[in-house]
Amino acid sequence: MLEVSERQAIGDDLEQPARWSRKDLLDTDTLTVAEIDLIMETAEAMREVRARPISKVATLRGATVVTLFYEQSTRTRASFEVAAKALGADVVNLTASGSSVEKGESLIDTVRTLEAVGADLVVMRHGHSGAPYLAARNTTAGVINGGDGTHAHPTQALLDLFTMRRRLGSLDGRKVVIVGDVLHSRVARSNVWTLLASGAEVVLCGPATLLPRSLESHGERGSCTVSANFDQAIEDADVVMALRIQKERQASGLIPSLREYISGYQVNGTRLERAKPGALVMHPGPMNEGIEIAPEVAHGVTSVIEEQVANGVAVRMAVLYLMATARVQ
Ligand code: CP
Repeated sequence: MLEVSERQAIGDDLEQPARWSRKDLLDTDTLTVAEIDLIMETAEAMREVRARPISKVATLRGATVVTLFYEQSTRTRASFEVAAKALGADVVNLTASGSSVEKGESLIDTVRTLEAVGADLVVMRHGHSGAPYLAARNTTAGVINGGDGTHAHPTQALLDLFTMRRRLGSLDGRKVVIVGDVLHSRVARSNVWTLLASGAEVVLCGPATLLPRSLESHGERGSCTVSANFDQAIEDADVVMALRIQKERQASGLIPSLREYISGYQVNGTRLERAKPGALVMHPGPMNEGIEIAPEVAHGVTSVIEEQVANGVAVRMAVLYLMATARVQ
C-alpha cells in the first residue's frame, strides 16, 4: 500500500494541492472542467519531470499498479507501464492469455484476487463495454478504464486534449473534426465530452452507416454536429482527427468498399487544404496508412500523432499520481 510523502519530488511543479477525490476513472463524461484542468496541469508538471536528466521520481514508491488487458494494445499498455515506473510504482502486467482468465476465472474474481495481492490501481482494457464499471464496483482498488468495447477510452481523450491545448492554447471556439468509424469508436465518444467541456466546436464525420445520431446532444455540455460530407465538414477546421477504419466494416456492409471510403473520407493533402492553414492532424493509433489517412499527411509537418503518444506518458503519470495520492488523503 502507498505510504510515502506523495508530493515529494514533483511537488514544486504543482502550484496547488491535488483536488482529486475519485476512486476510479471510467470515462470523461462525469469529469468536471476543474478536474480536467487539474489533470492537464498535473500532466504539464509530469512532462517537466520526464524532461529532467533523471526522469524518474519515487513519488508512488510503495504503490502497486496492475495493467489487466483482455484486448491487444501497444500504446495504452506501454505508456501506463512507463508512467507507473517513472513514478516509482511497482508494476504487474497481466493479459487474459496466460492468466487464470483462460481457466474460466470471472472478472470479479480476478479483480478481487488483484486486490488481495495488494493492487492499488488496476488499469483495465476489455472488449465488452461496461466491464471496467463492473470491476470498479467489486474492488477497493482504483480502476482506470484503458478502453472498453465501443464505449470509452478516457486517458486517450485526455492525452488528445493535452496535445491540442499545448499546440493551440484554449480550445474555446476551435473546430475539431473527428472522421471515420465514429459508431464503433470509444475514442470519439470520450473525446466528445472533453472537447465540449473545453468549448470546442465538434464535428463528427463519416459514412451515414458509421455515424450515431445519439452522439449529437450531450446535455449541458452542448452539441456536436454530425455530417456525412467530409469535404464540407473539414472547412476551416483547427484539428482533424482520423479514426481507424476497421476492414471488417466492409464485410459487414457498413461501408460499400475501401476505395469508396478512401475517396470520401481519407484525410489527405487535398482535403487538408480546406482546413485552416497549419491545422493539426491527429490519430489515436493504430493507423491504417493509405486508408483513413494518407502517409504523407500522417508524417507531415502538421501531424502531432507521435506527440500524442509521447504526451500519453505524461497524462497517464498525472492520472496515476492523482488517483494514488487521493487514496491516502
Ligand atoms: N490508442 C490506443 O488505444 O492504442 P492501443 O490500442 O495501441 O493501446
